[in-house]
Amino acid sequence: MTHDKVETNIGLMTILVIAVLSLGGLAEIIPLFFLKSTTEPVAGLKPYTALQLEGRDIYIREGCVGCHSQMIRPLRAETARYGHYSVAGEFVYEHPFLWGSKRTGPDLARVGGRYSDEWHRLHLINPRDVVPESNMPAYPWLAEKELSGQNTATKMRRLQILGVPYSADDVASASKNVQGKTELDALVAYLQVLGTQVKGQ
Ligand code: HEC
Repeated sequence: MTHDKVETNIGLMTILVIAVLSLGGLAEIIPLFFLKSTTEPVAGLKPYTALQLEGRDIYIREGCVGCHSQMIRPLRAETARYGHYSVAGEFVYEHPFLWGSKRTGPDLARVGGRYSDEWHRLHLINPRDVVPESNMPAYPWLAEKELSGQNTATKMRRLQILGVPYSADDVASASKNVQGKTELDALVAYLQVLGTQVKGQ
């Protein structure tokens, strides 16, 4: 019987298992490329400003994503704590995504506006100053380093290629908009915009 052959031939079985899993995977993934709800930005979504974009790169460099997710799941306990669950259209301009998967600290998808700029500054320089029981690392050097703005315009041009709608003006003024600001300014600007563009959804 054919079935006996498949069950006793491990090579054939492996190939068939891979074929089935691939077809199943493709059937789930391919439609997402064409669905409006996953490829179109939600109303009100704006690309990051030059300063926020630099802040995002510092977030990546410092490994914040290793302890913080940016993805609120549609579960009561999460929406009660963090706000509306994340939707695909919020991430259309994100290259790369920073959804994360580890939550040593809270989810940050909608942290924008929850605290003052000053709170974030104190917290990043030494978390224990504002949250005594915190075990988040301190990032005091961020306040000392100024941004040169040297690569900001190039980063924006690369993002344009990936479909982020930056205008010629955005790119032209990019380096001027970040020069002289500290890395801390940039990171706080980034944190303060997270989730704010689509609040009240
Ligand atoms: C080792 C894990 C760890 C890393 C790395 C880390 N954090 Fe945290 N973070 C925490 C923990 C734990 C808390 C909760 C206690 C507190 O508020 O300090 C927290 C809290 C926060 C909060 C407050 C969130 C809220 O809703 O109250 C922000 C904002 C934040 N972190 C930003 C950052 C940024 C930006 C970075 C990278 C520069 C970073 N964290 C890196 C563990 C981490």
